[in-house]
Order: sequence, then structure tokens, then C-alpha cells
Amino acid sequence: MTVSRNEFPTDFAWGTATASYQVEGAVAEDGRTPSIWDTFVRIPGTVADGTVGDVADDHYHRFATDLDLMAELGVTAYRFSISWSRVLRPDGEPNTTGIDFYRRLATGLADRGITPYATLYHWDLPQHLEDAGGWLRRDTADAFVRYVETAVGELGDLVTNWITLNEPWCSAFLGYASGHHAPGRRLGSEASHAVHHLLLAHGQAVPAIRRLLPDARVGIALNLYSVRPASTSLPDQDAARRIDGLQNRLFLEPVLQGRYPADVLADLGEQEWFAAQAEADLEIINAPLDFLGINYYSRHTTAAGTWDGSPSANPGSEFVQFVDTGAPTTQMGWPIHPDGLMDVLRQANGYAPDLPLMITENGAAYPDQPGPDGVVDDLERRGYLEQHIAACRDAVRDGLPLVGYFVWSLIDNFEWGWGFSRRFGIVAVDYESQRRTVKTSGRWYADFLRSAPGQT
Ligand code: FCB
Repeated sequence: MTVSRNEFPTDFAWGTATASYQVEGAVAEDGRTPSIWDTFVRIPGTVADGTVGDVADDHYHRFATDLDLMAELGVTAYRFSISWSRVLRPDGEPNTTGIDFYRRLATGLADRGITPYATLYHWDLPQHLEDAGGWLRRDTADAFVRYVETAVGELGDLVTNWITLNEPWCSAFLGYASGHHAPGRRLGSEASHAVHHLLLAHGQAVPAIRRLLPDARVGIALNLYSVRPASTSLPDQDAARRIDGLQNRLFLEPVLQGRYPADVLADLGEQEWFAAQAEADLEIINAPLDFLGINYYSRHTTAAGTWDGSPSANPGSEFVQFVDTGAPTTQMGWPIHPDGLMDVLRQANGYAPDLPLMITENGAAYPDQPGPDGVVDDLERRGYLEQHIAACRDAVRDGLPLVGYFVWSLIDNFEWGWGFSRRFGIVAVDYESQRRTVKTSGRWYADFLRSAPGQT
């Protein structure tokens, strides 16, 4: 093993991550109402393999098995997400049966000595809010705060670590610009209004959480990319500036420094709209955090090219091309660059030198081939995790304030627009029998977690 747990601080959080719609199933049980993903997956052509998340991993009924698996692996932390439409009814009243699921989950974690990290929004907006305008509307941010108050009020005695939003870039630009994700709208640059309302939701939620739970530790999870130009030519460098701007800085700068990057608003052609928003908004969005969550998967290598006119997730910069440099890729086609993890940590650290950082997601999809016993010998995934955990070790050695790492994902699950055709788990799921089998990568992670003297 090229990396050992004892090269990390003893209180470093070691976890796995999942999200409600991807694992829970039970979409119409115990008072849960539809979210935008329930609607979106039913539109023909939206999900590659035509599947829906109605059952997914049936985690809603099998969570105790999944908690036992985590205990077996030896993780110290678990990041899950709470389904808004499970805990709050459309009339604004709490849904006590739905809340009870998360109480049992968090209690089960406590029983096993695993620390919960609850994400409040992992892309599953209640459908009735989308019908009223969704994230294009400012008052969706207020609705989020009311939901957060319910969730934290009902679960705060069991959960201390809260993540407001998961990957707002995806919610805004895959949801409202390219239409690859729910709600599937294709609005070009106007999708950036959703960015502002999502960030406002985040900024308003932070003090709301602290009011209810003074000891809370609060963060947000951003998907950050290492971005490099394909050449030293000015157009390729400008392409890199644009993608770093739209995917990284458009989120890091308001959240950590209370300002929007002017160049990105200009690329979007949205300066006027942003200038018309209340000045106090940026102060709200800049709410002090306890940690920044970073989901790191890959590096983009960018060049200037041409646009074929199809709806793009990079509005205003549609002509940017993502170049294949020959680096190995995962089944998602994402180039593998463990050293890029250091790039994103340094970038975030540059904006907020004292803020603890966590890798809240990192992992890889591969076309796993189970053996006759159901065991998956996923050496590539094991290698991916080992290289990225080694990069975390290098970051800690370099003095970066990295305090945790979560593998995406604990179990194979519903991978959004890819349905069940992409597997990210370190535990295999046979979707017919719902049988779980730890993969070689999961065994490796468990061995790694046991590698420190005195730790189990
Ligand atoms: C991230 C998402 C997560 C999962 C991984 C592969 O963008 O947050 O739900 O789909 O990618």
C-alpha cells in the first residue's frame, strides 16, 4: 500500500457518501411527495438506460444492512442526504413519518460510532416548488430555509455536521442550461439566476442552522475541477479562464469572499441582472462556514473551438472544447488526475486560508464484472482511490487544512442521467435481489482504515 492511515491526523474523518434519490427508493411511501427527479426520469430519453429511481437500492428499508456494512468497512463518518419532499409536506407541515426515517438512520449511525454528515439538498427539489418556478425564483431560497429549519429542528439532537447544498453548479447549469438533469430546462445564461438563488438559499440557511443548533458545523459541497489550457495560446488560456470561472470561481468567490467574479458575469452576459440584485445578498452568501466540502473527480483540459448549437452546460462559453490528452479515464470518460486534487485544495485554500477542507466526494465508475460468487475484483477503482487518498496525504503533508475524505459511493446506485448503467460503489448491489457484496476496492478501503496502529 502506497499510503497509510497513520500518515493522517487521528481525528481525520474517513467516510463514504450517498444521496437520497440515488439510494433510498420508497418514493411514494410514508407521505413522501414527488421531487423534480421523480418527474424528470419519466420523460422519455432523459435517462440513458430508461430506468427510474423508484426502488434504487431500497435503502429506505435496508438501511440497517447498509449501516452494518459501513461498520464492517470501519468508516468513521457517513455523508447522506435528506429528501426535502420526505420531511416537509407541500402544505409546509413536517411529515413526521419521513423524519422518523432519518432519526432511525442517525441513531443507527450513533450506535455504530459513525458520525453523520447530512446534506440538505442533493438536487431533489419538491416538484410543487419547481411548478412555481423552481430555482429561477428568489423565494425558493426562503422555502429552503423553512425546510432546513424543520430538518435541523427535528434532527439536530442527532446530527451536528450539516452540508447545505451539493454541487450547485450541477443544479443550476445541468438543470436549467443544458437540461441534462432535472428539471431539464434549457435556458442558456438565464440559468445563472438559479446560481444566485441557490447561493442565497445556502447563505440564509447557515445562520438558520446555527440559531437552532449553536454547536452545528456547517459547510457546502462544491464540485471543483482542476482546469488547464491545452496549450499556451491565448484562446486556449482564455478557454481555461472561462471554465475555471464558471465551474469553480462563480461559487468559491461569493461563498468565501462575498463577491461574484466580474469576468464570469461578463462571459454570461448577465452583469445587469446580477447588478439588480440586493446588495446585501452577497453578505448573506458569504456566511462564515466551519468547513468547505469539495467533490473532486477530474481535470478539464480546455481549448477554444466551435459550438454546434446544442444546449450547453457552459452558457456564454459554449465554444470551449474539452480536450483528450490521452490520460486514462474512468467509465464516465473523466480523465484521471490525482494531482488535480491538490490544485482544487490550493485554490480553495487561497480564498480562505483558515477554513478546514473536506473531500466530500471522490470515486470512479467502472464496468464491473462480478465473479460467480458476486465478488467484483475492481482493481482500477481500488487504484483510483489509493492514488487520490495518497494525494490527500500529500496535501496534509504540505500543510493544507484537509480534515476528511468521503468515497463516492458506499454502494452502486442510481447515477442520475446514466441510471443504473454506471456503478460507483465500493460495495456491489445486485438490483434484482438487492444483495450487497463488498468489492475489492471496499476491502482495500477497510484494510487502509485498519492500517493505523491502535485503530480498528
Ligand atoms: C456527483 C454527484 C453524486 C454522484 C457523483 C458521481 O456529481 O454529487 O451524486 O452522481 O457525481
